[in-house]
Amino acid sequence: MAKKVIIVGCNGLLGQKLVAQFRTKYDVLGCGIELQLLFKADIRYQQLDITKRPQVKRIIMGEKPHLVINAAAYTDVDRAEKEKELCWAVNVSGVENLSYYTHLVNAKLIHISTDYVFDGYKGNYSENDRPNPLSYYAKSKLAGENAVIASGVEHIIARTAVLYGHAENVRPNFVTWLISQLKQRKQVTIVDDQIGNPTLADNLSEAIATAVQLDAQGVYHLAGREAIDRFHFAIKIAEIFELDTNLIQKGKSDTLKQLAQRPLNASLNVSKAITELGVNLYNVKEGLQVLKSQI
Ligand SMILES: NC(=O)c1ccc[n+]([C@@H]2O[C@H](COP(=O)([O-])OP(=O)(O)OC[C@H]3O[C@@H](n4cnc5c(N)ncnc54)[C@H](OP(=O)(O)O)[C@@H]3O)[C@@H](O)[C@H]2O)c1
Repeated sequence: MAKKVIIVGCNGLLGQKLVAQFRTKYDVLGCGIELQLLFKADIRYQQLDITKRPQVKRIIMGEKPHLVINAAAYTDVDRAEKEKELCWAVNVSGVENLSYYTHLVNAKLIHISTDYVFDGYKGNYSENDRPNPLSYYAKSKLAGENAVIASGVEHIIARTAVLYGHAENVRPNFVTWLISQLKQRKQVTIVDDQIGNPTLADNLSEAIATAVQLDAQGVYHLAGREAIDRFHFAIKIAEIFELDTNLIQKGKSDTLKQLAQRPLNASLNVSKAITELGVNLYNVKEGLQVLKSQI
């Protein structure tokens, strides 16, 4: 019989890619806060709000999976500054709930975290570098990592960055937003002082599947292998999608007036994943070309 995996937050961008990745080899139960599955896939689905401990208990204890993958999160970085309680409930208490019951059924938890746990003053962060989150969202994500570790559950924490991709009924990400702006011939100002590793969600889900297969343990930086600033990333997007680069103007973070402070150079060093897991993490061009072939 196929091993069971519960994919939590399966309606999100990464969640949908994880379903596509795992459904061929695993018996997948998708869970999300919505009433039903928001995309086409032949899997079982149950509604689950991870902040509700009795729901988490019922589903994990009832299902007794081998693996739980948590792709659910409160991901609106600016709104988190105003909705602190909800952000903490999802990114910390929800993760505590998942960790506790996953541990209780002796399963392994795969949890997704972010490059934003770093302050961005140094860049090229490895798994051994010390986090120092700047925003409320980032603090909650670091507290979520710590909740996983403190629970004693067997785990992988995958830190990723600048996630993008094409999926059904998901919020726009940087790449899909930019493509839509440029197609409408709108001028955009993009900062050239925020650096990160753009990560195609499909590529991340492949890397997670490899990490699971190799029974990796602990923290891994799983992100695109190339770091780039947002402005130059935007130019590459326009070039690959054959859109007008003249519509893109260069800006600076301090003029944007974003509510949450971003780390400037949060670039991740992904050598541990490449050498230990042998994963093929795309560079910027490779990721965008795969996306182009999909849409
Ligand atoms: N996006 C990025 O650039 C980025 C960068 C680094 C790391 N990450 C991390 O990568 C992971 C996946 O991100 P993503 O971009 O795929 O996020 P996403 O598309 O926003 O998906 C997150 C999913 O979690 C669901 N959710 C929210 N609260 C929930 C709750 N209480 N119970 C159950 N489900 C809940 C959301 O539902 P609703 O949509 O209905 O709220 C959504 O379906 C997250 O851990 C995120 O922190 C993302």
